[in-house]
Amino acid sequence: MTDLRRRFVERIRRDGAPLSPQLSAAFAAVPREAFVVDGFQRRDGTWARPGSAGFLEDVYRNDVLVTKLEAGIPVSSSSQPSLMAIMLAALDVQPGDRVLEIGAGTGYNAALLTVLGARVTTVDVQADVVERARSALARTGIAGVRLLAGDGYAGAPGERFDGVIVTVGVAGVSPSWLEQAQPGRLTNATAHAGPRAVGEESTARSGLPGAGEGSGPVGAGRESAGWSGQVGAGDEPVVRSGPIVVPVEHAGTHPVLAVHGLPGRAVGSVQDSVGGAAQGSVGGAAQGLVEGSAAASVTARVVCPSGFMTAAGPLTARHARSHPHPVPADSLAPFGHAAPSRWDRPLDSLAYRDLWYAAGVWSTRATHAAVPGRDGSTLILLDETGTGGAAILPDGSVLSSGAQAPRYAAEATEILDRWESANRPPMHAWRITLALTGDPAAPIWCPATWELDK
Ligand SMILES: C[S@@+](CC[C@H](N)C(=O)[O-])C[C@H]1O[C@@H](n2cnc3c(N)ncnc32)[C@H](O)[C@@H]1O
Repeated sequence: MTDLRRRFVERIRRDGAPLSPQLSAAFAAVPREAFVVDGFQRRDGTWARPGSAGFLEDVYRNDVLVTKLEAGIPVSSSSQPSLMAIMLAALDVQPGDRVLEIGAGTGYNAALLTVLGARVTTVDVQADVVERARSALARTGIAGVRLLAGDGYAGAPGERFDGVIVTVGVAGVSPSWLEQAQPGRLTNATAHAGPRAVGEESTARSGLPGAGEGSGPVGAGRESAGWSGQVGAGDEPVVRSGPIVVPVEHAGTHPVLAVHGLPGRAVGSVQDSVGGAAQGSVGGAAQGLVEGSAAASVTARVVCPSGFMTAAGPLTARHARSHPHPVPADSLAPFGHAAPSRWDRPLDSLAYRDLWYAAGVWSTRATHAAVPGRDGSTLILLDETGTGGAAILPDGSVLSSGAQAPRYAAEATEILDRWESANRPPMHAWRITLALTGDPAAPIWCPATWELDK
């Protein structure tokens, strides 16, 4: 067992997560198998149970373990460990910190946080999942975690936290998290922009085309690289609400963002219309004031690409900047060549994701799909019928399909030109500003404008 966990830690590190000694020790200390005693779905679709052949080897792969399905769709899991490590590092947990987790799942991440010294409150929308996590924590003797059943949109009313970590894919940041994230940490606005490494949650299991870790250009990401970039624009110390580490929908995936709110007395205004998508900016009239928002300005940086299962409830509200949902296999009409390859050497998976991110900034139609005749998932600008549009391949060629093929092919070419003339910006180079949007009764802060570092 000790050996298994030692190899597990090495594997997580090799797969791109920069493990601090504290994080290594946490992964080595917490028995992951104790959090999946009812088993999990293997990649081949079979159910692994304690005692079955290879169970512990499967538990200690650097892989997502899907622990609950509804109608064949994963609704709870233990996330990919290297992704958890990257997110925990971005949260920068210090002993004694109060941490709010949204998406308790198996309780494994809460256990790691506790071993890191955090005082954890974790929320899950599924009451049975909460009870299983409670039993798992008790089984391992990890005490002190507060488990709440309910919609994570509300956070943990009445509590204050030094950081918030969201382990389910959302459309944006709940105002409750910003209110509950203690505006206390003094920062000179330099923080993690994240390792250039990728984790992927469970889209592979949701029937989506090749989006799972190790398989597709969005999902794979096994390259490692160090921490990079700076989060803030200025050098002046500012007091900001503690970091919120959260996977936010973008072009059919969920890049993990490190979000900060600058506190202020201003109330937010709900934006509901989009203008200038090609400029990567949201315009339009502000409609309806939302009382009680503690944040005056909310900004973010990308930590790493990822793909998570999608949250229930208002956290996944559609809004003016929402991209289309990923397109399942067999939904698209055949594609034909529209523009030839432009690079002798196709983009590696990392650079392709950078292009993907930029495409999501410049087009609200960017998402991913299984393009007929191609393996894995592909960046596509989906037309309004949902069956055609233009696909951008890693070699820079463009395929198109449907009645609007020429229009979408031209837009794809424009995105490629623009990305090249901007010197192929990496995803962490975008400075993101969020705006309050969605249902005025349950608004969320969603990415609204993007600017590239100079
Ligand atoms: C990927 S799992 C979380 C993994 C977990 N942190 C772990 O360590 O096992 C996502 C969880 O988010 C929960 N969830 C989905 N929508 C939610 C919501 N609106 N509020 C709170 N939890 C939600 C699901 O029930 C699921 O258990």
